[in-house]
Amino acid sequence: MPADILVLTAHPHLEHSRVNRALMAAATAVDRTEVRDLYALYPDYLIDVAAEQRALAQARLVVWQHPIQWYHMPPLMKLWVDEVLGFGWAYGHGGHALQGKDLWLVASTGGPESSYRPADYNRYHFDAFLPPYEQTAVLCGMRFLPPLVLHGAHRVTTAELDAHAGVLTDRLRTYPDWPEIEDLADCVACEVPDNARPSLALQEGA
Ligand SMILES: Cc1cc2nc3c(=O)[nH]c(=O)nc-3n(C[C@H](O)[C@H](O)[C@H](O)COP(=O)(O)O)c2cc1C
Repeated sequence: MPADILVLTAHPHLEHSRVNRALMAAATAVDRTEVRDLYALYPDYLIDVAAEQRALAQARLVVWQHPIQWYHMPPLMKLWVDEVLGFGWAYGHGGHALQGKDLWLVASTGGPESSYRPADYNRYHFDAFLPPYEQTAVLCGMRFLPPLVLHGAHRVTTAELDAHAGVLTDRLRTYPDWPEIEDLADCVACEVPDNARPSLALQEGA
């Protein structure tokens, strides 16, 4: 069976990672996944956009797996979003390549869940940092699945990490038969109107 789950993993220093390295190993062990380690593939930050788009086209579920850094994704993953999710391919006029696929965020935070509270040092509930992810998915016609987040990654015990990796393995094996997505609504349509962008001629100054 060809891989129908694409796991894009991004950790700037995987050699120092405990959590994301374990999660990446768990994902790799599942038959139906293709795991692409962005920092290993592109140490020079020169992303092969065509290869990334080919990998996306095969997938039914796309997973973004990374440590949270400054309340968002690591820089190479952000560059991947900028370059791979192009206008006219992923969104906008003629951009339907990802329509109907699912996007799942699998992330870890250094801060414990209790720090993501109005009275604590991260000030906001963790969900408050998710709209840019969700809207990126929705603009591309993808359903944003409920994220899998491991909080307090610095202090997590081996047993807790193993259990978390077990949840990841289980979800990858059983996708799309997850209780948490049974009642999830279809993705709302976000059509970018054709007049939202200047024509190519205008961009080229013709
Ligand atoms: C540059 C940088 C920024 C970080 N920003 C955050 C953050 O915004 N919120 C947070 O909870 N943890 C933050 N962390 C902690 C990482 O999320 C944590 O080290 C990681 O999830 C642990 O996973 P690992 O064992 O795979 O490295 C940051 C770490 C680094 C290096």
